[in-house]
Amino acid sequence: MECSILQFVSTHWRRTHNPLYPMLPILRHSSVETQSIVVLDFGAQYSQLIARRIREQNVFSVVLPFNASLHEIRSYSPVGIVLSGGPCSVYDQDAPHADKKVFDLGVPVLGICYGLQFMVHALGGKVRSADKREYGHAKVELKDGSRLFQGLPKVMAVWMSHGDEAVELPTGFRLTASSPNAVAAIENPEQKMWAVQFHPEVHHTPLGTDVLRNFVLDICGAKPNWTAKRFVDETIANVRQTVGKGRAICALSGGVDSAIAATLVDRALRDEHGSSRLTCVFVNNGVLRKNEFEKVQQNLRDKLGLHVVAVDATNRFLSKLEGVTDPETKRKIIGNEFIAVFDEEAHRIEKAEGAVDWLVQGTLYPDVIESRSVRGPSQTIKTHHNVGGLPEKMKLKLIEPLKDLFKDEVRRIGRDLGMPEEILQRQPFPGPGLAVRILGEVTPERLAILREADDIVVTEIKNAGLYKKIWQSFAVLLPVMSVGVMGDQRTYAYTCTVRAVHSEDGMTADWVPLPYEVLKTISSRMVNEVKGINRVVYDITSKPPGTIEWE
Ligand code: XMP
Repeated sequence: MECSILQFVSTHWRRTHNPLYPMLPILRHSSVETQSIVVLDFGAQYSQLIARRIREQNVFSVVLPFNASLHEIRSYSPVGIVLSGGPCSVYDQDAPHADKKVFDLGVPVLGICYGLQFMVHALGGKVRSADKREYGHAKVELKDGSRLFQGLPKVMAVWMSHGDEAVELPTGFRLTASSPNAVAAIENPEQKMWAVQFHPEVHHTPLGTDVLRNFVLDICGAKPNWTAKRFVDETIANVRQTVGKGRAICALSGGVDSAIAATLVDRALRDEHGSSRLTCVFVNNGVLRKNEFEKVQQNLRDKLGLHVVAVDATNRFLSKLEGVTDPETKRKIIGNEFIAVFDEEAHRIEKAEGAVDWLVQGTLYPDVIESRSVRGPSQTIKTHHNVGGLPEKMKLKLIEPLKDLFKDEVRRIGRDLGMPEEILQRQPFPGPGLAVRILGEVTPERLAILREADDIVVTEIKNAGLYKKIWQSFAVLLPVMSVGVMGDQRTYAYTCTVRAVHSEDGMTADWVPLPYEVLKTISSRMVNEVKGINRVVYDITSKPPGTIEWE
């Protein structure tokens, strides 16, 4: 599968602008899983998706770089290994090669796309560049008798994406599926090896999940015991043991990840009288949405029972942003100021309540994987904490209770913890908030206008029953003045852009064709109700080539 650079660049803001990343050392509590399926990542766009599909079978799966050591692989107690796709050719000089001893670990191995080619090449078969590249939908014919395809029809629709093909199979292998153009699947069950040329993990292979289920549950014999409840119980026990009698703090953003991370740790650090050794800090950076500072506090305190210190630092942030127009400078100012405010609060908390040694963070699994993924076969593998930049401000150890989870799993955990849907379904909101949705200088006047406009977009999208179906929907204020007419009056006011996108993870996005009625209501409410806006436009740009935020 082609490897997209997008996969790797999308983390830029997370690592460079998430103000808490540099607070090293990182001490993640280690995984408590007793069985897993290890996915070795050869740089495919879809490695994470393979792990997600496996986890949908309630089996824990972890993505490791292709050159992970056997020691690291074993530390996850694998009951099966998947070799992912990747953008290279196995015979390229700098092609990624895994340690061949993965085939001798005694557990079943499934190669996917490049994974098949690597298996063939490593075990003495032959791979060459195909005369005809196979890309897109294809039909493959399954031969009888493969456990990988049990219960599947003889002809199956699949998604192919390869330029190379296996032309000679290694000794002991047999062909189990073929497409009109190539070898589609092979196996050597005696040596516990299976491989497919197509991509069972993508939804364009409708029965792909059945293939993965056959591999994971039947061939590997994995037990489907990776459940929300088990995760919650084990994480709480693990955090309790790791933190001991220590104290922790957490910066809350109002979003789902930090709220769930905090709730898990809070449950672990409550004593028998109900008081918690976790203090949460929620900072108003002056660029939050309408009523958000109050609403978030209410949710966190009343609905989740968290001990929250709320700090209104609006003036500090806005005075630092005065006259600044460059997007990256805005981000840096907000990030640095956040660290300063958080640091001061941490010291205040230490004085009042005792020494703090742990920092809770809502890092998710995709952040962990992306930051250590291959950036193309010849490039360095980055580690999660290899971020540099900002100074080591606080000597805190890091607890990241969600570091093994994908977003949808986090929501499931939240539901299990009794978290209100309002928090669980909240659309993502960037750390630098409205500052990256006001093009040019951020002023109190512009903020007030955008807050009202944004509130109208969100309210109308909710009224239309679309809020949960859309990844992000919001307003952007452009410093473009145009002439209008209202009543008999000439107006000269700002332009507001409405943006709504569908996305899986923010890395790519499609603009949403909102119903005309919804657009009509948004537009007329904005112009009528928001003083300062006299023109509304709709952004019909996908990502790429656009980005989701305008700055
Ligand atoms: P872009 O604009 O890069 O956004 O297509 C992709 C996703 O990332 C969010 N985003 C940010 N989140 N700090 C954040 O915490 C940032 O500086 C930042 N910039 C973009 C954006 O809202 C979208 O979900």
